[in-house]
Amino acid sequence: MSGSNLGAVLVTGGGGYIGSHTAKALHERGYLPVVFDSFSSGSRDAVRWGPLVEGDIRDADALARAMAEHKAAAVIHFAGLIEVGRSMNQPELFWEHNVGGTATLLGAMRSAGVGRLVFSSSAAVYGQGGRGPLEAISEDALKAPASPYGDTKLAGERIIESACAAFGLTGVALRYFNAAGADPSGLIGEAHEPETHLIPLAIAAALGDGKPLTIFGDDFDTPDGTCLRDYVHVNDLAAAHVAALEASLGTGVFEAVNIGGGSGRSVREVVAAVSEAAGPVPHSLGPRRAGDPPSLVADVSRAAELLGWRAQCSDLATIVRDALAWESRPAYGRAGRRPVSAP
Ligand SMILES: NC(=O)c1ccc[n+]([C@@H]2O[C@H](COP(=O)([O-])OP(=O)(O)OC[C@H]3O[C@@H](n4cnc5c(N)ncnc54)[C@H](O)[C@@H]3O)[C@@H](O)[C@H]2O)c1
Repeated sequence: MSGSNLGAVLVTGGGGYIGSHTAKALHERGYLPVVFDSFSSGSRDAVRWGPLVEGDIRDADALARAMAEHKAAAVIHFAGLIEVGRSMNQPELFWEHNVGGTATLLGAMRSAGVGRLVFSSSAAVYGQGGRGPLEAISEDALKAPASPYGDTKLAGERIIESACAAFGLTGVALRYFNAAGADPSGLIGEAHEPETHLIPLAIAAALGDGKPLTIFGDDFDTPDGTCLRDYVHVNDLAAAHVAALEASLGTGVFEAVNIGGGSGRSVREVVAAVSEAAGPVPHSLGPRRAGDPPSLVADVSRAAELLGWRAQCSDLATIVRDALAWESRPAYGRAGRRPVSAP
């Protein structure tokens, strides 16, 4: 176990999937991760590597108190609402948490004199237009989100960029592609409720523990007709946050950086990889979903240049192996589900 000699970092949303893996990576690097979470999702069981402050990012006083009490030198900001479909029905709630909450956090950082922020952004900030169907997406690509969720991530970036110019904050927005996998320790993993991500749903179907999987469309302009996505192991994502925290960037600088595995895998390839690891995946074919682009694959060259970061364990076989180990014995979440071990 490492000490915490590199100082405290406030981790909003550190009880969630990506936040908890990043808290572990911070601890292993020598930081003290101070988790700030309301547990609107996430789990108290995922907070294991530093103190917990229970609070809401819409509460400026609670944030300022947490930063002062723990002498935080930086913030990593995961907290927010994430379900794209729900954002279509409740856009105002998403703007309140994701944009209002980020504005409140920035105000608290300004008054507490905390000058460094790493923000969870998303590939959802990009639109579908302006590039070839299978072209990798660079950071300069057209921004035209297809959902209120994506709108709030882009607005979060813009308000952070303005704060960098206004009061000398150094900000990095990491635009994640598809986070997947779990820490091999078995202590933490993905536990969204409801779960909407392909790999855990395919594993649940294979374990006989969920509904059969639906493949939404097989007539896209892709090699096998199903959508291509870029999967990145959650521990690679966690390492990217540490790299962003430590990158030598000037005062007042804002950077947006893609974080992905850098290659596209089709829905059918994912189903085949899960079948190989966990047994057959019962599935059926459904119609396309509105707003699903055929391909979302990151150009990750900027992450290498600016952060010195490259994915280390984001090959599909490793992601599926680690996700399966977690889903077979989840330490928390997955209400009512305690599957038997996979074959
Ligand atoms: N999972 C992905 O594939 C993915 C992809 C792109 C971007 N992101 C972004 O990464 C971040 C983390 O995602 P995740 O998958 O770990 O989600 P998660 O739901 O597991 O974690 C989010 C955490 O934020 C907390 N939270 C929510 N609203 C809060 C509030 N108002 N105050 C305090 N805490 C609050 C929740 O309780 C939860 O612990 C999100 O901002 C999400 O938009 C995730």
